[in-house]
Amino acid sequence: MEEQKKKRILSGIQPTGTFTLGNYIGAVRNWGQLQDEYECIYMIANLHAITLRQEPAKLRQQTREAAALLLACGIDPAKSLVFVQSQVPAHTQLSWVLSCNTQFGELSRMTQFKDKSAKHADNVNAGLFTYPVLMAADILIYGADLVPVGADQKQHLELTRNIAERFNGVYGPTFTVPEGYFPKQGARIMSLQEPERKMSKSDENVNAFILLLDEPDVILRKCKRAVTDSDSRVAASPDKPGVTNLMTIYSSMTGKTFDEIEREFDGRGYGDFKIAVAESVIAELSPIQREYKRLLADRAYLEEVLKTGAETAGRIARRYADKVYKKVGMLQL
Ligand code: TYM
Repeated sequence: MEEQKKKRILSGIQPTGTFTLGNYIGAVRNWGQLQDEYECIYMIANLHAITLRQEPAKLRQQTREAAALLLACGIDPAKSLVFVQSQVPAHTQLSWVLSCNTQFGELSRMTQFKDKSAKHADNVNAGLFTYPVLMAADILIYGADLVPVGADQKQHLELTRNIAERFNGVYGPTFTVPEGYFPKQGARIMSLQEPERKMSKSDENVNAFILLLDEPDVILRKCKRAVTDSDSRVAASPDKPGVTNLMTIYSSMTGKTFDEIEREFDGRGYGDFKIAVAESVIAELSPIQREYKRLLADRAYLEEVLKTGAETAGRIARRYADKVYKKVGMLQL
């Protein structure tokens, strides 16, 4: 029987510091799980990172660290392509063409742009504004069918679909219109301190997030300090966002359902529960941390993975970019 062509996946993550538990549960963990069923392409979005001011040497180091961390989280370069965005120049080439097919009004509606420009009022640069166009180029340049991301990227993905459909309408079928792939649970892990806000590594309060490289005692402390709600019942409900968030984390780590968790902690209060959450996170992250240290020490291997990834991704991307340039009327060499 003829083997069916696998669907293609693309996703990316910014190398702006160690990934949070939110990045892991919302995206990166799923990337590893999708590798057998799909043809996967995973990218370190270092061009997106410079929409906020970065220290060059630190950004280079964080890019290597992000690569090591992705592999430690289970992304296997024998199965998936892993590369650094800036090393495949076709992304930015396509981005220009797409930006000429994206409306100012569409970009103005992006909530992430509004949030980030309010937070960094001294540096509201054009890149921050056109950020979602580059993201659309990242996705469309591989003809990706599916994009596994957390809920905060939904609006960017919707814009990508609109750009693709519009372009196809004007120039004829060119791009695959991608679908988002969101985890059933954990698409939005919330801050441990303000559970109405998403967990983010840029939070000023370090107790608001868990980083994948946090030591066990730090994880325990952060979980113990997590904001909960006035009564002491471990139960999920919209008016108990703190406890519900911890239950989501615990459920993602252990595979237990909310019902099972409620029964497990019936009559036991938050203290026991928070320790159990911390232990489940530590158990999941410890092997990742060990593997990360091993990989980071093997710089030659990491460089080889990224080089092969960029070369292979570059060949695919180049073909798409050429096709698009031809369609919009650029003279071919
Ligand atoms: P970034 O680096 O902000 O986040 C990487 C991934 O982690 C998810 N995520 C979360 N999921 C659940 N709960 C949270 N608290 C949480 N915080 C972050 C994000 O949804 C994301 O999936 N623009 C992207 C990077 C990017 C990209 C792309 C993604 C560039 N090009 C093309 C997909 C396709 C970003 O900044 O993700």
